[in-house]
Amino acid sequence: MYFHRDRGFAQPAASEITPQSVYQSRREWLRHLALAAAGSSLGAFAARDALAAPIPPRAALEGVHSDIGGAQTMEKPTAHEDATGYNNFYEFGTDKADPSQRAQSLKTQPWTVSVDGEVKSPRRFDLDALMKLGAIEERVYRLRCVEGWSMVIPWLGWSLSHLIKAVEPSGSARFVQFVTLADATQMPGLGSRVLDWPYVEALRLDEAMHPLTMLVFGMYGQVLPPQNGAPVRLAVPWKYGFKSAKSIVGIRLLAQQPGTSWEKAAPREYGFYSNVNPNVDHPRWSQASERRIGEDGLFAKKRRTLPFNGYAAQVGALYAGMDLRKFF
Ligand code: MTE
Repeated sequence: MYFHRDRGFAQPAASEITPQSVYQSRREWLRHLALAAAGSSLGAFAARDALAAPIPPRAALEGVHSDIGGAQTMEKPTAHEDATGYNNFYEFGTDKADPSQRAQSLKTQPWTVSVDGEVKSPRRFDLDALMKLGAIEERVYRLRCVEGWSMVIPWLGWSLSHLIKAVEPSGSARFVQFVTLADATQMPGLGSRVLDWPYVEALRLDEAMHPLTMLVFGMYGQVLPPQNGAPVRLAVPWKYGFKSAKSIVGIRLLAQQPGTSWEKAAPREYGFYSNVNPNVDHPRWSQASERRIGEDGLFAKKRRTLPFNGYAAQVGALYAGMDLRKFF
């Protein structure tokens, strides 16, 4: 599958989707990953978790903010090999297998994230300092891609609001822009005009401050693999996956709504809000249902897509009074 600049995403063929792999129990999974991640700071986190006995069933995930509460999905995570082998990261190519094959040499140390714009205390964080701004938690979120497939991913990170508060937004801050790495020496996809680089995304300030909006440093108990946006990315679970920018190098608070890469590439297809909405079709396909990666035999039944990807109770109020067909 590939992308046309003027026509946006092509929906993936069913044959591109990897069959379900054996799911490991949470305990095995954490043990396995604790070993794999040993030595990193997230490794210590995973190891502590893996050794604590007995590990409760999924319903009792530890380290969850009380205000996140019911927003955690209890669905079983997508197989690790699917979540790390079937990716969109166009800086490394437009094929689902390109990122896992081509991103492995991405240099993630040293790494800095500058946070500036409409703030009282602009700062440039190195990765260690950034990670220390919050307590790392595991949160299992659905990720629904605009192409019509979804995954369930156990992320490690904390609410982006911690970072935004640390830089003290000024009264005129209304939007938050995410700027990602664009380094042609490391990213072969930048040679293509498929999108304008760097890949940029943005949220309204209240969306960015919502406790569900997560700054992510790891997944499945490990530091983020390059193909999933190492060393730091966003996870915005009620929006189409492309809002969750990978490999972030800059976060800017702005007074005006900025453009985003996808809006620029195909404005009729990808709006600024991009809330998951089964009632607003993409101009070239329905958004009413989705394939869950790993469950899809050729004849497997699709799942019904839920408004706001199932997070309506948590985020619906952000859009009270807005016409979500107009602000798609
Ligand atoms: N971030 C950057 N920098 N470049 C990209 O191409 N693709 C987006 C998003 N973030 C993308 C990106 C899209 S379309 C999706 S669906 C998700 O990343 C996929 O995240 P995953 O590969 O971790 O599942």
